[in-house]
Amino acid sequence: MNNFGHRYTGLIERYRDRLPVSESTPIISLGEGNTPLIKLHNLPKILKKNVDIYVKYEGLNPTGSFKDRGMTMAVTKAVEAGSKAIICASTGNTSAAAAAYAARAGITAFVLIPDGKIAMGKLAQAMMYGAITIQIKGNFDDGMRLVKEVADKAPVTIVNSINPYRLQGQKTAAFEIIEELGRAPDYHCLPVGNAGNITAHWMGYCESSATDVTKVTESCAFCEGHCKYAGSIVGNRPKMIGYQAAGSAPFIRGAMVDDPETIATAIRIGHPQSWDRAWKVMQESGGWFDECSDEDILVAQKLLAQYEGVFCEPASAASFAGAMRDIQSGKIAEGSTIVLTLTGNGMKDPDTAIAQCTGKSVMVQIPAELDAVRQAILNNLAP
Ligand code: F0G
Repeated sequence: MNNFGHRYTGLIERYRDRLPVSESTPIISLGEGNTPLIKLHNLPKILKKNVDIYVKYEGLNPTGSFKDRGMTMAVTKAVEAGSKAIICASTGNTSAAAAAYAARAGITAFVLIPDGKIAMGKLAQAMMYGAITIQIKGNFDDGMRLVKEVADKAPVTIVNSINPYRLQGQKTAAFEIIEELGRAPDYHCLPVGNAGNITAHWMGYCESSATDVTKVTESCAFCEGHCKYAGSIVGNRPKMIGYQAAGSAPFIRGAMVDDPETIATAIRIGHPQSWDRAWKVMQESGGWFDECSDEDILVAQKLLAQYEGVFCEPASAASFAGAMRDIQSGKIAEGSTIVLTLTGNGMKDPDTAIAQCTGKSVMVQIPAELDAVRQAILNNLAP
């Protein structure tokens, strides 16, 4: 049997029965979702620990981040409701996704971004997709406050993750992981900023395990629905682990942070909107929050690129930086299956990448002559 003629048309079509859409909903999609779950081969050997680590490479979504999962739903529902304009505050990826899906839908996107604090690729995306790009002299949290205030006074739909449809779309990443592994992982690690994504993943895992249990009890010939599991959620679910950048770590401080700072600009957020919900995720899943220094984040980013060929942006690498530490300390148990979400593509932030890679071993400058090229090869061959 072959799969010829089957065209993937995005996550709303794929998970239609688990999303709030109807037959008449006009779906706005760019083919998002269905991202690779890549098993790490080389780094577990370096860690010398017996663990299975998979990275969910969300950087391969149409605009290069997981935001597309939520944006296809948010823009679809905005258009269904007759909205002609959307608005968001963003550290860069939400604005890129909002701009692209608005272009696709033929509506206007307004994006508020912190002046000078977003990666170049993300700024290029918002501008190129045709969003009205508003740079504010403030940070993401200021932008979020302004967006909430202005949405009461102007005909615009907010597409930040306080829009419930965003989380609905984002929960589908958990469905994909369960389908590929045949079960939920033991641990799921994510970088945390506004805390929408960790909340959405937990929703996805809970919904899946509830469905599994219903299936089990319905088809069980012995208990007829009277066993101890009937009606309860017992399917396997991971412990959720949220890593923050040390300079922007309100969940670790236990309080909002007024002047967040980190090289991982995507998660430079001090006032997370999903504060209560993310704490509940930790309580229910038995997971934890922790922090990573900027230095550790950059080391993790480079390790993933140079040992596995997976280029993610700095914020995404926080999940690997934190997981490495927790695997090494034994907090994440040996024998575990671990999924790390790599939230965004490394190509979005070329400045940070290039700044880390200067040095003789990576970049050699020579005259355009055969001998010089041959010498450069001989000088740099692995021993
Ligand atoms: N990783 C990346 C690459 C992000 O862009 C974000 C958030 C996160 C992680 C954190 O996800 O907020 O759901 O906890 N970026 C938002 C933006 C804030 O505007 O693009 P979260």
